[in-house]
Amino acid sequence: MTAPLIDPFQRTIDYLRVSVTDRCDFRCVYCMSEDMTFLPKKDLLTLEELDRMCSTFVRMGVKKLRITGGEPLVRRNIMTFFKAMGRHLDSGDLQELTLTTNGSQLHRFADELYACGVRRVNISLDTLDEKKFADITRWGRLENVIRGIDAAQKAGLRVKINAVALKGFNEDELLTIIKWCEERDMDLTWIEVMPMGDLGNEDRLDQYWSLEDMRKTLRETFTLTELTERTGGPARYVRLEETGQKIGFITPLTHNFCESCNRVRLTCTGELYMCLGQEDMADLRAPLRESEGDALLEDAIRNAISHKPKGHDFDYSRQTVDGQMTRHMSHTGG
Ligand code: GTP
Ligand code: 5AD
Ligand code: SF4
Repeated sequence: MTAPLIDPFQRTIDYLRVSVTDRCDFRCVYCMSEDMTFLPKKDLLTLEELDRMCSTFVRMGVKKLRITGGEPLVRRNIMTFFKAMGRHLDSGDLQELTLTTNGSQLHRFADELYACGVRRVNISLDTLDEKKFADITRWGRLENVIRGIDAAQKAGLRVKINAVALKGFNEDELLTIIKWCEERDMDLTWIEVMPMGDLGNEDRLDQYWSLEDMRKTLRETFTLTELTERTGGPARYVRLEETGQKIGFITPLTHNFCESCNRVRLTCTGELYMCLGQEDMADLRAPLRESEGDALLEDAIRNAISHKPKGHDFDYSRQTVDGQMTRHMSHTGG
């Protein structure tokens, strides 16, 4: 083990999100355009290189590893990589190995994921209406995701649903989605839509549903108690006293949570993004490939962390969109 990773704002970096592919079998409207150009496969880090990268981060103090994409489960042979990362759980160096998925392929992999040491999955799902689901994901089918959720729960994985809050889209499903999660014993987190991707004429402002407003609506039905517990991610939780259910809110817009940021993001080509909402990044693929030892890579990682910015600049106030990013969420994995 080496010295922990600490950034210029004295934040300890112990959470690595790894996007293992930029591809996806969905085309969610707030994430991708319909005709995405994906990276040539030759530019991707191999599974062995991903292993070396992640193992180096674990040696440098990363305790939580979240595998993302695009859709991580569409990467060929990805279970080989999950198995390899399982060894860091066995040694106790890593505390959590997990993934964020759209759920479409989960029925094929749920048991294997559990066997690799995964205990929790976050599944993105914004609506329970088949037609709306097909509209928002463009290519997705709700029944496949439900099948994936069934398989995950059967395998013993704890499921958290991530729903992007979208005005005029799922506002009317707020209580239905909450109830559905309660009935299925799943956690639920709502996310404010961020101005990323091909914005074109859409600047997300018209889709933006502030979670402050959502809380107000919830208070009409429930008593909300703020909780102090954290999962290591940016979500802040409340308990609905009437049902005992816990609900998370990820509020990059209304409440900037950057001061407690503990994470960095590795893309499938080996770029390290220090913040989801900033351009700053460091190429780790070159130092990885330059030598067989990991010393160069470790130096590059330390150097990158020493440039981690204070936070993002997303802002919809004054009815304009500031801080927007042309980078797609699928590039850095959210
Ligand atoms: P838990 O371990 O369950 O707490 O997960 P998490 O919230 O860390 O991860 P998840 O993949 O579920 O994140 C959900 C979404 O929150 C992401 O896809 C992003 O949209 C958003 N998000 C996560 N981390 C950040 C961050 O550092 N900055 C911003 N702006 N958004 C983030
Ligand atoms: N704003 C907020 N969340 C987004 N996601 C994708 N694009 C956006 C966006 N523009 C979410 C997905 C998924 C996670 C990977 O990122 O819904 O939960
Ligand atoms: Fe795929 Fe997730 Fe992006 Fe939807 S949000 S297109 S499921 S990567």
